Order: sequence, then structure tokens, then C-alpha cells
Amino acid sequence: METAARRAGGRSKVTVVGAGMVGGTVAQMLALRDYADVVLVDIVEGMPQGKALDLMQAGPVLGYDTHLTGANGYEETAGSDVVVITSGIARKPGMSRDDLLRTNMGIVRSVTEQVVGGSPDAIIVVVSNPLDAMCHVAFDTAGFPRERVLGMAGVLDSARFRTFIARELDVSVEDVTGFVLGGHGDTMVPLSRYSTVAGIPITELLPADRIKVIEERTANGGAEIVSLLKSGSAYYAPGTSVVEMVDAILLNKRRVLPASVLLQGEYGIDGLYVGVPVKLGANGVERILEITLTEEEQAALHKSAGAVRELVDAMAAMR
Ligand code: NAI
Ligand code: 2OP
Repeated sequence: METAARRAGGRSKVTVVGAGMVGGTVAQMLALRDYADVVLVDIVEGMPQGKALDLMQAGPVLGYDTHLTGANGYEETAGSDVVVITSGIARKPGMSRDDLLRTNMGIVRSVTEQVVGGSPDAIIVVVSNPLDAMCHVAFDTAGFPRERVLGMAGVLDSARFRTFIARELDVSVEDVTGFVLGGHGDTMVPLSRYSTVAGIPITELLPADRIKVIEERTANGGAEIVSLLKSGSAYYAPGTSVVEMVDAILLNKRRVLPASVLLQGEYGIDGLYVGVPVKLGANGVERILEITLTEEEQAALHKSAGAVRELVDAMAAMR
């Protein structure tokens, strides 16, 4: 990835569009990392500038030199290595992610159009909901290859799954791996067979009925937090999950993480953004890992992909 910041030997540059709860958390976590400068963009005048300045003033206390800029336009975003799109409206109690479709479709299209001109080599990480559908909007608008437009959901959903497994077994979350595939919605597919505690599949450690409860809580993980917060949705774990993906890209870690990517025949799915395990590095999605699924798991993945297809078709009908 040969972007302006890298060619000049400077720090990488990350633009975060939408300086709300998730965007602000991403900016804070990135500031703490101290490897990239951050541009926060929002339509609310003064707000991204205020958050950027506030975060910079935490630098002397916490010992980081991250430069943060707040903006209401895109001039400052030019030459970004990574663009994180969090702009849009979030869920309120009783709303599904799909209720956000029409509004966020317009917002994601507009911000993508504006950001790509100055950052033609960037990798775009979409966060706005409904996630997989918004990836389609960003992909169609940006005109980038599929390797450079992906969505964050699987890291978050897997983190929730890992948290619940660790709590159930009273073990450290550090020893728990978890895999969640499919679209970021109620039909997501927690894969217990591939989820482990120190390499031991959880199917060896927990009875089937407890696993089912944990899988269901994972699939409803976003709604559980919305119902507690009452206004807005989760942001600490989502923001942290985004930064794990930015780390993988900017530090070229080649992490294997679940992400929403455009499938072109993998898993028998064609032309749809769906969450699957990928290798994530400096070039974006460097490989899509195809793992063997049972008939039941494959059916659940296809059901989840069907839910994404419905949204994509609904967006086409709205145009
Ligand atoms: P928020 O309401 O706190 O922040 C959204 C920000 O976007 C606001 O500050 C708003 O002014 C800004 N915005 C709206 N239109 C814009 C435009 N045209 N250009 C620039 N900025 C614009 O919402 P929050 O909690 O930060 O959530 C953001 C989005 O992320 C929501 O759609 C939410 O559903 C989604 N989300 C997705 C997750 C995932 O796993 N993929 C997890 C958590 C949230
Ligand atoms: C979540 O899962 C709202 O999609 C967001 O928390």
C-alpha cells in the first residue's frame, strides 16, 4: 500500500467518518496506539474539532503524540491509508438494524463519494448498519477492488461470543477463541465447533443446551445493549473491534479475523457481502479462508446470506 503518508516516511493516516459514539471510541483507541494520525469527520459543526482537540490534550497525560484533526469536510482526509465509515443513525429500542437501511444508505453513499477522491488507495472499513448492506453501498460507490472494502462485525460478534463462553466456564477471555460467520443480524452463525478454550472445542466442555443459550445471546448481543442503553447502541466493543482490524492493516499483521467481504463463489455464495474468516494485512483482504461446514452450518450461513440479499434487493428497489 503506497499512500502519501507512507511514501513520505511519515505516520499513517486514518480517517474516521462519523465522530459519534463509535467514531469517537475508534479515534481514542487509535490515539492510544500512537502509530497513525487521525482525521475525524462529521456533519455537526464543531463536534469533530472539539473531540479531536480533547483527545490531543490527553496525549501529554497518556504519553502519545497522535495528531488528531476534526473536520466537516474532506480536504484534511486526503492521502488516508484507512477510512473507517461510522456515519449514520444508530438503533433505538424496538428498531432493527434494517430500519436504518434507507437513511444510512444515503449517508454511506455520500461520504464514500466524498472521501475516495483524495484517498484513492485507502482501505475502507465500513461500520454503519445494516453492516453488510452498507458494505455493498461503499463498494459500489468507491469503485475499489473487493480487497479494499470490507466491513466490521465478525470481530465484535466473536468478542461477544468469547465473553459469554469465558463467563460460562469461568476462564480467562484470553484463552477463548470464537468464530461467528454470516451477516451482522439476527441470523448470524456462531460456530461452536470452531470455538475453543486453549484449543479445546467448547463442544467438549459445555452441554449442548448451554451452548445454544450462549449462541442465542450472541446473536442478540447488539439488541441486548440497545435495550439497556435505551438511546443508541454499543460503542466500546465495536470501536475496539474496528481498531483490531486497523492494527491488522497498518501493522501488516496478517491477522485471521472474521469480516464482511464480497464473496464471489466462496462458500457457494456469489456477489454478496457476508462475514467469513479472512487474512487481513497491508493489502486489505489478502485471502478468504474457506472452512468445512456441516450441512446444518452451511444452511444457516445461506439463510444469513439470504437476509443480506433481501436488503440488497430492497436498496435496489429504493433507487
Ligand atoms: P452516533 O449517532 O453516535 O454517531 C453517528 C455520527 O454520524 C453522528 O455524529 C452523526 O452526526 C454522523 N453523521 C451522520 N450523517 C453524516 C454524514 N453525512 N457525514 C458525516 N457524519 C455524519 O452513532 P454510533 O453509535 O457511533 O453508531 C454509528 C453507526 O455504526 C450506526 O449505524 C450503528 O448502527 C453502527 N454500528 C455498527 C456496528 C457493527 O458491528 N458493524 C456496531 C456498533 C454500531
Ligand atoms: C451492535 O451489534 C448496533 O450493530 C450494533 O451492537
